[in-house]
Amino acid sequence: MIKGFLFDLDGVIVETAIFHYQAWRRMANELGFDISEEFNEKLKGISRTESLEIILMHGGVELSEEKKVELATKKNEWYLELVSQMTEKDILEGIPEFFEQIKQTDIKIGLGSVSKNAKMILERVGLIDQFDIIIDGTKITKGKPDPEVFLKGAEELRFRTNECLVFEDAVAGIQAAKNAGMKAVGIGKPEILTQADVVYPNLEGVKIEEILNTI
Ligand code: BG6
Ligand code: MG
Repeated sequence: MIKGFLFDLDGVIVETAIFHYQAWRRMANELGFDISEEFNEKLKGISRTESLEIILMHGGVELSEEKKVELATKKNEWYLELVSQMTEKDILEGIPEFFEQIKQTDIKIGLGSVSKNAKMILERVGLIDQFDIIIDGTKITKGKPDPEVFLKGAEELRFRTNECLVFEDAVAGIQAAKNAGMKAVGIGKPEILTQADVVYPNLEGVKIEEILNTI
């Protein structure tokens, strides 16, 4: 029986996935190459430092550790500039209604994000109080597809792993759920999130019962 929902943040609750892409793209462009939207799928759910490594490898650029720290910091500053304009209007379609539905049940709500900015973003869009527990980039040592973030989520909720259901927009995030022994609802395109148990473009009009009967 499912007792807890574990939500990814970027691209599931708020549309910050596009801001991560824009900030990384700006950095790549400054280094003299470009990254496509298709390539960006590989970065979703991946930590800041790992994303940087993947991008540098893609561009064939080798840099010192010092320079890498400098670039990751710069990217985060650009990203923060983009998110500084966010308000509750930037919550993704269907999320407020879906959280309302959850409140009518005994299901607990957890966050499972590798972002170190997660709490700040939830505060900014006024959703932080909706969460029973929050696991973010400050509480984990390994990014997705490692299951750590979701295993810690289950532990803090005090549920077994198979009592938790993950909501994810990233290929690496769905893999992390699977690695944790959890089922996963994909938010996005079925042709990309092939390992998800069910995929919706967003949660608008989606009924909890419908999900639980499908997975
Ligand atoms: C994930 C995003 O939620 O957080 C990744 O999908 C991002 O794109 C990662 O790299 C880390 O985020 P931050 O905010 O700590 O740089
Ligand atoms: Mg995401």
